[in-house]
Amino acid sequence: MISFDKASHIVKLTNGSIDYVVYINTEGYPETIYFGKAMRDFNPETMRTAPKWHDETHVYDPKTGSERWFADGFKQNVAPLELSPHARRDKRGAPIICMRENGSFATDFLYVSHRIFNGTEPLVGLPSAHGDNCSTVEFLFRERTRELYVKHRITIFDDCDVVVKNYTIINKTGLNVTLSRAMSMQLDLPRNNYALTHFSGRWAAERNAVTNKLVDGVQEVSSNLGATSAEENTFAYLSELGATYTHGEVIGFNLVYSGNFKLRTYSDMLGGTHITYGINDEDFSWVLADGDSFVTPQAVVCYSSDGIDGMSRNMHDFVRNHIVTYRHDREYKPVLFNSWEGCYFTFTTDSIISYIDDAAKIGAELFVLDDGWFGRRNDDRDGLGDWYINTDKIDLGKVIAHCHAKGMKFGIWFEPEMINFTSDLFKAHPDYALREGNEDVFLGRHQMHLDMTRDDVVDNIYNQMIAVLDRYDVDYLKWDYNRRVYEHYSGHLGAERQGEVYHRLTLGYYKLLGRIAARYPDMMIEGCAGGGARFDLGTLCYCPQIWTSDESNPARRCTINFNTSFGYPLCTMGTHVNDCKLFDYRAKGQFALFGTYGYEMNPNKLTAEEVAMLNETAELYKRYHKDVVENGDLYHIADPSDGEYYIMQCVSKDRATSLVLSMNLRCQKDRFRFVRLRGLDPDKRYKNSHDGKVYYGDYYMNVGLNCSQEWHQEFECQLFVLEEAE
Ligand code: GLA
Repeated sequence: MISFDKASHIVKLTNGSIDYVVYINTEGYPETIYFGKAMRDFNPETMRTAPKWHDETHVYDPKTGSERWFADGFKQNVAPLELSPHARRDKRGAPIICMRENGSFATDFLYVSHRIFNGTEPLVGLPSAHGDNCSTVEFLFRERTRELYVKHRITIFDDCDVVVKNYTIINKTGLNVTLSRAMSMQLDLPRNNYALTHFSGRWAAERNAVTNKLVDGVQEVSSNLGATSAEENTFAYLSELGATYTHGEVIGFNLVYSGNFKLRTYSDMLGGTHITYGINDEDFSWVLADGDSFVTPQAVVCYSSDGIDGMSRNMHDFVRNHIVTYRHDREYKPVLFNSWEGCYFTFTTDSIISYIDDAAKIGAELFVLDDGWFGRRNDDRDGLGDWYINTDKIDLGKVIAHCHAKGMKFGIWFEPEMINFTSDLFKAHPDYALREGNEDVFLGRHQMHLDMTRDDVVDNIYNQMIAVLDRYDVDYLKWDYNRRVYEHYSGHLGAERQGEVYHRLTLGYYKLLGRIAARYPDMMIEGCAGGGARFDLGTLCYCPQIWTSDESNPARRCTINFNTSFGYPLCTMGTHVNDCKLFDYRAKGQFALFGTYGYEMNPNKLTAEEVAMLNETAELYKRYHKDVVENGDLYHIADPSDGEYYIMQCVSKDRATSLVLSMNLRCQKDRFRFVRLRGLDPDKRYKNSHDGKVYYGDYYMNVGLNCSQEWHQEFECQLFVLEEAE
């Protein structure tokens, strides 16, 4: 719900659990006077948090030849603002910079009006949050000296403690305007006793949690690799010092975007924190013609006073309810078998058919033919760009018919945004690759990036893809992306528009992905990027799940999954059992239950005992996944980075069923280990699958689940199912 109080100039967004309050001061600047737990009332007199002793803003006014004090006691450089000016008194870092005609950097937006409406409106050209159970305020600001406007939207959701914010810059100046920074939001907090946790990594080791106390000055979390990356994820959070999984204030941030991003925190010398988030301004500029608008991606801000997990569960509900658009999301997801690690590029029609047969024996319901079915793709040096079936290698029609005859679904791999220089496409269109004239082009996995800023390139790949997808009955598509953007130069755009390349590449990705998703609304698309390098909310708008990492060994994957799940629900995290030798198949299966379960190995080589183990876990997946994991609540119990145990717990929304997974990482032989559970109904009685005993929820949450046993093996997994007793 959003209200405006004319007398006090206050716009209050609330969902009953959190409030976001904006005061429009007499000078025309919107001050964020409160963001936090829902409160009783707001009074600008008492809520404005700029330090009392600090100078109020005053200017020399050449029109009167005298000094003028800003009205309303406004202190421009320290007041918490929704949109800081640039090249004025406030030097904390403006989210938007667009030069004036005379070359001045000054950019200073002032309030004109606002409107409040139910729901939210989609962003033009960009994915965004959707839903009816939310309300939006849209402020209109005008730049002090010209007909340049900003529409600033803030949406609050009823079912999760999240607001989304973005700016749209509208040029009505009659001239071209060049934007040199166009971020999505700012948030000023009147305190700085926070730590910033962000998720950096590399290939096969994505999303290590890194926590640093905010210190005076700037910290930055960003990517300049052309996409959200393995190196940094778009999700990060601030936690009050001393916050735990269950206590303390935690504010989560994310961006509905898949390109270069920058989250910047500036902890000022007066005890405040100034946060800006949006498109990375490195090598960014945008020529905005008269009459045009620039839409910035949506920034997501999530609030909890119940610790890291409170924030995390809010993010999960937000992603499930307002980001993912796939029409069959929240339904049961089939057990997936992927061919990649079993046979890589080496297969025949018969070998794939035998894979399908053996995959069915371990409960697979969806068979995915990964890389290698198209062009001259027998290794990773050729084929990208040539999306026609390699009929010498595979009879796709026969494979699909076999799959469907067995009652299984069929899926296929594409890497649409890439090109090999050996491909037919490159021979026909060497200008389709992103490159600068005849300069060297850096290769990544032998491939180049397509110039996705060009509509004709997007059309070409789209037409090739639909030629396959229209002809064959494909139920699932894996959309891969195995390199980054190095040279961000497009021969197609003029010199003055090279600062637009990165963002236009991301828009090209959304154009192609959006068209494919719209044409085949029942086909599930899984995102992938050399593992989990493009794990972001922009991708999730089209792809209900994303391959989380090429590392499937649970001893290492547990950290990746644990950390990914702070910002993203488990149902979005593709997790497969592979043939890593450290664990037996039962343990690997139990581990994969805490994600979207799948397989990736040579199924012809499985022993009868292994087949039995995998069927056991596939059955558990079929029985519990949808209610407990896909749609339930997640509790992080023990962090594998601490080196001893990895423990996660999922509870169904009706609190009738809970799954607990404990993995012993260091051969701890605790004979007396009671793990305190969370999120159960204290008054419900639960029977646990471990000792068959029945206790009240409060017993499990206060005394704990008795996990002790005679001997714990290193890397041993224990799965506990708790079900409400009659
Ligand atoms: C990437 C993906 C893998 C697989 C290969 C195929 O590395 O992450 O899962 O699809 O590409 O080349």
